[in-house]
Parts: sequence; C-alpha cells; structure tokens
Amino acid sequence: MTDKKNTVTVTDNASGKSYEFPVLGGSIGPKVVDIRSFYADTGMFTYDPGFTSTASCESGLTYIDGFEGVLAHRGYQIGELAEKSNYLEVCYLLLYGELPNKAAMDAFSDSITHHTMVHEQLQYFYRGFRRDAHPMSIMVGVVGALSAFYHDSTDIHDPKQREIAAHRLIAKVPTLAALTYKYSIGQPFVYPRNDLTYAENFLYMTFAVPSEPYEINPVIADAMDKIFILHADHEQNASTSTVRLAGSSQANPFACIASGIASLWGPAHGGANEAVLKMLDQIGSVENVPKFIEKAKDKDDPFRLMGFGHRVYKNYDPRAEVMRKSCHDVLKELDIKDPKLALAMELERIALEDEYFIERKLFPNVDFYSGIILKAIGFPTSMFTVLFALARTVGWISQWKEMIEEPKQKIGRPRQLYTGPELRDYVSMDKR
Ligand code: SDX
Repeated sequence: MTDKKNTVTVTDNASGKSYEFPVLGGSIGPKVVDIRSFYADTGMFTYDPGFTSTASCESGLTYIDGFEGVLAHRGYQIGELAEKSNYLEVCYLLLYGELPNKAAMDAFSDSITHHTMVHEQLQYFYRGFRRDAHPMSIMVGVVGALSAFYHDSTDIHDPKQREIAAHRLIAKVPTLAALTYKYSIGQPFVYPRNDLTYAENFLYMTFAVPSEPYEINPVIADAMDKIFILHADHEQNASTSTVRLAGSSQANPFACIASGIASLWGPAHGGANEAVLKMLDQIGSVENVPKFIEKAKDKDDPFRLMGFGHRVYKNYDPRAEVMRKSCHDVLKELDIKDPKLALAMELERIALEDEYFIERKLFPNVDFYSGIILKAIGFPTSMFTVLFALARTVGWISQWKEMIEEPKQKIGRPRQLYTGPELRDYVSMDKR
C-alpha cells in the first residue's frame, strides 16, 4: 500500500475518476512524481515540450539549484573545484564518484596520457573537409569515426570496454580538436606530449609549430584548465539528453558523443559563446548598447542577448562568476585592453539594471565571458564550441555510463499530442 503522504492524486474532472501516483525523493533538490503508469492508468499522456517540468532520469553526477546559483559535481561545489582541483581530477570524480587518492589519480592520469594519440589513419579524414569547414562540422565527423577504429571498446555491455571507451574519448577529443584547428589554418599536425598536463598538452598541440619551441604560459594553462572544469558537466542539458537518448538505443559510445557534439553546436546551447562575440561585433560600441537592449526586448525582433539567460539558473550562473575572474586574469597577463571586454562589462551593467532582464531573471551565463577569454588566448570564434565539446565530453560519457549501468535501462521513446489530419482514404490522382 503506497504511503498517502508520498503520493499525489490526479483527478480527471471529465470523468470524475482519480488516480494516485507515488512521489519519489532524491538526496537534495525537488522530489518527482512517478508517472510511469500514467498512460496505462488514465489513457492520456502528460505534455511537457522542452521538459520544463520533467525529470528524464535519476542521476548522481551533478546537482544544480537554479535559484541559489548552486552547481555541484558529486556534492563538491563548482567554486571549490575550480579553485582547488584540476580538470583531470574532476574527470575522475565524475566518472567514478569520489575524489581519487594519489595512487588512483596517478593511474588514471597515466591511462589518459597514454590514450591521447589517435590512429594514424584518422588524420586522413580531415583532408575530406574544406579548410574553411566549421570546426564543429569536422568534430561531429571525426569523433563519430572513432567507432570505426576502436572496435575493442564498443561492446556497451562489457564494463571494461565501457571504461576504455570513456578514457579514449577523454584523451582523444583534445587531440582531434587540436587537429581540427591546425587543419583549418593549414599548419602541420602536432602530436601530443606525455610530459605535459591535460590543459598544457591541448595548448601545445593547438599552438606549437615544428619550427620553434613552444613555451607554455602557466596563467593561460591555468585559465584553460578552469574553463574545462566549468564546462565538464551540467545535469540533463540539451546535448547530454541527446547523448542519453542516443545511448538508450545501445548505440556505441563514440556515436553517442558525436550526437552530443551535434546538439551542442546550436547557438541556444553551446554555440552561444561564439554567438556572444558575434553579438559584441554587431553592437560595435558602448553607445549602441541601449539600442540593442531594446532590440533584445522586442518580441518581433529575433535579436537576443547571447550569453544571457538560462533554463535553470534564475539567479546567477556560478560558473560565470569564476569565468569573469579568469577573464580579468588572462587579459591582465596578456596585457590586452580588449574593447570587447569593456563593451561586455557595459552590456552586463545595463542589462542587470533593466527591469525586463531583472523580471525574467536573465543573468550572464557561462558563455558570456568564455568567448572573451578564448579570443584573448588566441582561438578563433569558430573554435569556441569545439572547446566546450572537448570539456563536456567527460560529462557526456559519465552520464552515458551511468545510464547504461542502470539495471532497468529502457530505450527512450517519448509520445506526442497528435494534431494532424484525422484518418482518411487515399484519393487517386484523377480525383485530386
Ligand atoms: C548553455 O541547459 C544547460 O545547462 C545549458 C548550459 C550547459 O552547461 O549545458 O548551461 C550551456 O547552453 C547556456 C545558455 C547559452 N545560451 C545563450 O546564452 C543564448 C541566449 N539565451 C536564450 O536563448 C535563453 O535564455 C535560453 C535558451 C538559454 C533559455 O531559454 P528558456 O529557459 O527556454 O527561456 P525562454 O526562452 O522561455 O525565455 C523566457 C523569457 C522570454 O520572454 P517572455 O516570453 O517571458 O516575454 O526571457 C526572454 C524570452 O524572450 N529571454 C531573453 C533571453 N533569454 C530569454 N530575452 C533576451 N535575451 C535573452 N538572452
């Protein structure tokens, strides 16, 4: 007998019939109403396009409180992780659930380091693309192509193969991202180095050239590592939900991550950091800010303030706070007086004083500052979302692993509210 206190009752006023559904609680955050039997009980579907009120799964990886501006991975808050941890340790935490001791961290780091190289044949995939192809179009292709090379880690029912696939993806996506950048600028590919940290190695593969030594700037490497930490995972966002849905059909992990990259590309999601820079170019100067703020408020105008607003954060995005500080550190280290940052600061100031944004709780999100830092480090805007995908790979594969290890894992198959034509007979051509 279900405990009455832990149920909700739904009454269909048309028929007067009532239905009871259990309420399930997690460790922190909102409870859920278990409506898995709703269709069988009532003959109706629930309706929630955009999933504004729907939990799609149970997860222990990341907790977000949008009103308090809390983001925590396995219980550790993002501000502490950004300050005291490093990206590879956060990868371990997301994958295995606990902070590693030294032996576990050394073993994990060694495994990732020794998976950074990609099969030599993979470099030939790049030649099929135009040099000016958008880097995200290349990444969707080459990450999916990994499944053609690593057949010994595509059996999703084998825990060992799942783990190797996860390590391979965390290790190889930065290499593929760097190859994508090199290909786009016509420079030779640079192989990974095992003596560098994860972020240092990525900067090296991206910016080093064979004709001279490349010196790692520790401030930039630290900022890169922080950016990776801040983008590592974010609950059931659009691209993670895409990876879970692809994974629910038992597709191999490389194909699932490629589907996440495709979803992240959209300017409403991971493509926002690139869109922020384009927006700042479009605004042009501080004098134009008020005009564009008005455009953002005009329902008939498609212009939106990119880098503002969030489906979940209705107070502030804790990642934006860390990112803002990192942004100032990088610009100071590189002695860059980026007029775009001055424009961004003025845009932020005015927007946060404007009733429209205050009322709708539209605050700067993680993408607002990341674009400015990445531009300062030397990445072209077209590479911004590639870096987001690089960092989010660990979140995607950790969520995928959690789902595959769900004992009663089922294929995702939403229903619909059908509003098309009613059933009708075929009409032959001569009668149309
Ligand atoms: C990411 O989900 C995640 O966790 C994503 C992410 C992650 O780590 O995975 O955090 C990464 O995607 C961050 C978000 C990056 N996207 C942008 O910066 C693009 C600009 N932002 C918006 O497109 C929008 O805010 C969303 C998509 C982020 C959120 O959209 P919602 O929750 O569906 O909100 P909405 O579109 O219903 O907007 C609510 C109101 C509307 O006005 P009203 O109809 O109530 O009058 O706010 C307005 C919107 O018009 N609004 C904006 C706005 N965002 C929302 N108006 C102007 N500028 C904006 N940016």
